[in-house]
Amino acid sequence: MSTANRQVLLASRPSGAVSEANFRIVEAPLPVAGEGEVLVRNEWLSLDPYMRGRMNEAKSYAPSVAIGEVMVGQTVGEVIESRDPRLQPGDKVLTSTGWQLYGVAKARDVTKIDVSRAPAPCYLGVLGMPGMTAWFGLREIGRPKAGETLVVSAASGAVGSVVGQLAKIAGCRTIGIAGGRSKCDYVVRELGFDACVDHKTGRLADDLRAACPNGIDIDFENVGGSVLDTVLALANPHSRVILCGMIAEINAAEPYGYRRLRSVLLNRIRMQGMIVFDWKERYAEAVAALTEHFVAGRLKYRESIVEGLDHAPRGLIALFRGENFGKQLVRLG
Ligand SMILES: NC(=O)c1ccc[n+]([C@@H]2O[C@H](COP(=O)([O-])OP(=O)(O)OC[C@H]3O[C@@H](n4cnc5c(N)ncnc54)[C@H](OP(=O)(O)O)[C@@H]3O)[C@@H](O)[C@H]2O)c1
Repeated sequence: MSTANRQVLLASRPSGAVSEANFRIVEAPLPVAGEGEVLVRNEWLSLDPYMRGRMNEAKSYAPSVAIGEVMVGQTVGEVIESRDPRLQPGDKVLTSTGWQLYGVAKARDVTKIDVSRAPAPCYLGVLGMPGMTAWFGLREIGRPKAGETLVVSAASGAVGSVVGQLAKIAGCRTIGIAGGRSKCDYVVRELGFDACVDHKTGRLADDLRAACPNGIDIDFENVGGSVLDTVLALANPHSRVILCGMIAEINAAEPYGYRRLRSVLLNRIRMQGMIVFDWKERYAEAVAALTEHFVAGRLKYRESIVEGLDHAPRGLIALFRGENFGKQLVRLG
């Protein structure tokens, strides 16, 4: 075991797009586990869009990272030392110890993962927070019925890919929106969506209308901005919008000016924001159901892997440029 830790700290707050200069990489002493705690060697780090919000000073649904603090993030890794009877050295676990090679966590905050059922990094993606976001958002807010048309944006991504496959299982006509031909081809050929529309062609409105001849009953919204406006123009009476993410606005200096909100009124659309933490008490239920689909081969996934902790900033930046193709991860060891 190494005697030193390595960490990525928040060095400054971005104004607009994130840059590598917003981070600082440092060596630090190995942390020490206290009573009721475990020392974990992190093997995989998840990179997620919410991290951009944590880099801001502004108040949000979760606290900001302070300047000089380790960047927040979920990891999977191995218990090296345990001072709690619930966990043993060698256990594979999911923790929130952030962008570092080693972390200490309270045993009660650590989730043991079953790597005999799925590879460890899946617990950061299809069976992890993104998968659970898809699960609860779709079931609890979208409430899909067979024969309805569902549209999901960022369709090849960590959340979108699970949403679309679950919607197909529920019997929906499932349409993706994604950036570029190869992502759209993957969404249809590998994930089994009925169609996927490329938002980068300049023809989104026409192509989406052609792909949704019966209008849209459910929109699982991962992008916001002009994509959401375009969807609202095609929404059916009594349709549902699951407002999950607005990544198109995440780096923008000004909020996007929505032009189609009148559709919400005219069509009596139910639009609800969601934060997956609200279902924290029910995570086990989602993981069990997702694992069943996964083991049966009904949930396919793809990963974009950045090699090494030092390249984590580059991986986060890639997410906001649409350069990731599937769940964005960092391999740490
Ligand atoms: N509410 C919650 O609890 C919760 C939980 C998890 C995630 N989310 C949200 O869900 C969304 C997807 O997250 P994810 O982790 O699955 O990420 P992801 O889809 O794997 O990756 C992000 C994707 O967003 C698209 N994108 C990035 N910048 C964009 C822009 N300016 N305009 C349009 N599209 C852009 C790109 O896809 P294309 O190349 O296809 O455009 C990019 O690959 C995000 O908005 C995230 O904030 C919310």
